[in-house]
Amino acid sequence: MPDTLPAVLPAPPRSAPRRLNPLDRVLVEAQRALETVLGQPPASRPNPAGDTADAALSPGERRHAAGLMRINHVGEVCAQGLYFGQAAVAREESTRAHLLEAAQEETDHLAWCADRLRELDSRPSVFNPFWYGGSYALGLLAGLRGDGWNLGFVVETERQVEAHLDEHLQDLPAADRRSREILAQMKTDEARHALEAEMAGARILPPPIPTLMAVASKLMKTVAYRL
Ligand SMILES: [Fe+2]
Ligand SMILES: [Fe+2]
Repeated sequence: MPDTLPAVLPAPPRSAPRRLNPLDRVLVEAQRALETVLGQPPASRPNPAGDTADAALSPGERRHAAGLMRINHVGEVCAQGLYFGQAAVAREESTRAHLLEAAQEETDHLAWCADRLRELDSRPSVFNPFWYGGSYALGLLAGLRGDGWNLGFVVETERQVEAHLDEHLQDLPAADRRSREILAQMKTDEARHALEAEMAGARILPPPIPTLMAVASKLMKTVAYRL
């Protein structure tokens, strides 16, 4: 034991499962929301773009790359909202731990997309509070249906995100290797999130839920490309 305690205790990891009273839980949820929407939560892994050279892009290519990376940033804001909402009402501690562990990797994605937006002289979506709030509410609803549904929702979300990352990998300007390296690592992570949720006992979501999720995500992409 050290002779003296540090003046400021280190903050617990964002993913740490803890036993809290209701007020503490509300404060933790509010802190997560504010960090995601307004703050810059740090990544726990190095940025996959590493020291890849930043190619010269034309103004049009830069705008397009920024639009796509803003969509991906919003996607990660939504992932945080979903996972934290789902974790807040998960019944089994193992499901909660699973969701919070995946959320930690989504925090990496969020930070990498924010880094790339800055490099492209752009900014995140002005509607991030709305995207987070809507996703959190959706996460709560999915979670309240039980852990099988909760995990089924994760599988469907991750599969849709994986497909959309494939589209962006094709659609990015050919020279934008830094964005591409970030998206490639995200795609690997999202595929693993889906697989892990499947193995943890996910249920297959019935129609029309997957279709409704795809429609909501198309709306988000259309708006976030510009705003
Ligand atoms: Fe992600
Ligand atoms: Fe994911």
